[in-house]
Amino acid sequence: MVERIVIITGSNSGIGKAAAKKFAAEGYRVVMACRDIERSKIAQQEIIDATNSKKVELMQLDVSSFDSIRTFCSEYKENHNKLDVLIHNAAYFNHGEKEYQLSPDNIEVTFATNTFGPFLMTSLLKDTLAQSDDPRILTSSTTNIKYFFDPKREIELDDLHGENKDDKPYNVYKRYGDSKMALLMLTFRIAGKFRDAGIKANAVMIPNIRQEKSSLRKFKSKYYRTIATFQNLFARPPERMADTYFQICDSEEFKNVTGKLINIDNKIMQCTELPPGKGGIALLKELMSFDTYPRYVENKEMMDKVWEVSMRETKSHREPDLQS
Ligand SMILES: NC(=O)c1ccc[n+]([C@@H]2O[C@H](COP(=O)([O-])OP(=O)(O)OC[C@H]3O[C@@H](n4cnc5c(N)ncnc54)[C@H](OP(=O)(O)O)[C@@H]3O)[C@@H](O)[C@H]2O)c1
Repeated sequence: MVERIVIITGSNSGIGKAAAKKFAAEGYRVVMACRDIERSKIAQQEIIDATNSKKVELMQLDVSSFDSIRTFCSEYKENHNKLDVLIHNAAYFNHGEKEYQLSPDNIEVTFATNTFGPFLMTSLLKDTLAQSDDPRILTSSTTNIKYFFDPKREIELDDLHGENKDDKPYNVYKRYGDSKMALLMLTFRIAGKFRDAGIKANAVMIPNIRQEKSSLRKFKSKYYRTIATFQNLFARPPERMADTYFQICDSEEFKNVTGKLINIDNKIMQCTELPPGKGGIALLKELMSFDTYPRYVENKEMMDKVWEVSMRETKSHREPDLQS
């Protein structure tokens, strides 16, 4: 059997680590793309011990830094001549954070990590993905994007460089939702653009999944840490989500599926909107559903804007092939 290779960003903990274990157990060569090599070595060893795999590599990657992404991609290409699966799993979401923060490229850190980083990485790895006979990209989405069922909700792209940071309170929850909605729009557009190259791009909606103690410790706010600790009691284990990642990226069922948002039960979700004038219970129903996501994602004007801004922000780091 031809060996398949997967890159999973942020695979030193939580869902990413469980996914790395799953892919390794299934015979994949796994490249763990993690920002802290020393901490991640422990996760790498755990995966090797659990799977007996000799094909678990660890490479340094800070998704919020364009230089780091460029270095990662060129080192990857020096050592591998193809890529079968690219999973954009890493994300920035610091519960309770009140300070506006900038990435090494002077971009608001949530957007840098959750939107522009995956965009740049996808662009730089496109040629390597095209060498696979069944290339698939998966981005991690969240139930937070369901707030876009509210017709008043919009992605804000006007202070990516701290333009309004002293005038407007920083809301990490809104940033997270906006950056993940932007990533979903990019995923769908990339699916269209990469279709001719045979590269599939989908997203997966992640429900409440148990978080590791090390992740909870990173929370800025004690209040949210307590809530998340409580939520953990009802959350599903990361291994359950890892199975879905694997199914979407490996199974025959999804071999020709592209440009879709898929739920934890491997079901393709449907785009919909609230009937005019409806809110309250209708909105609550949509928020609770794992079958639907907001029509906002098809807002062409916003999609064009997100694409344009992503192209602009990553301009000096991109290869020319994503221009069209
Ligand atoms: N758990 C849930 O209930 C839930 C719900 C909806 C969506 N999600 C999504 O699921 C994905 C995985 O989250 P998780 O729950 O497994 O959380 P997690 O355990 O905290 O994992 C997040 C991972 O992202 C990495 N990361 C963050 N910023 C990075 C950067 N700049 N460069 C490289 N890696 C970076 C973290 O690395 P460090 O250890 O170095 O910080 C960590 O490995 C995320 O996309 C998240 O948005 C999770």
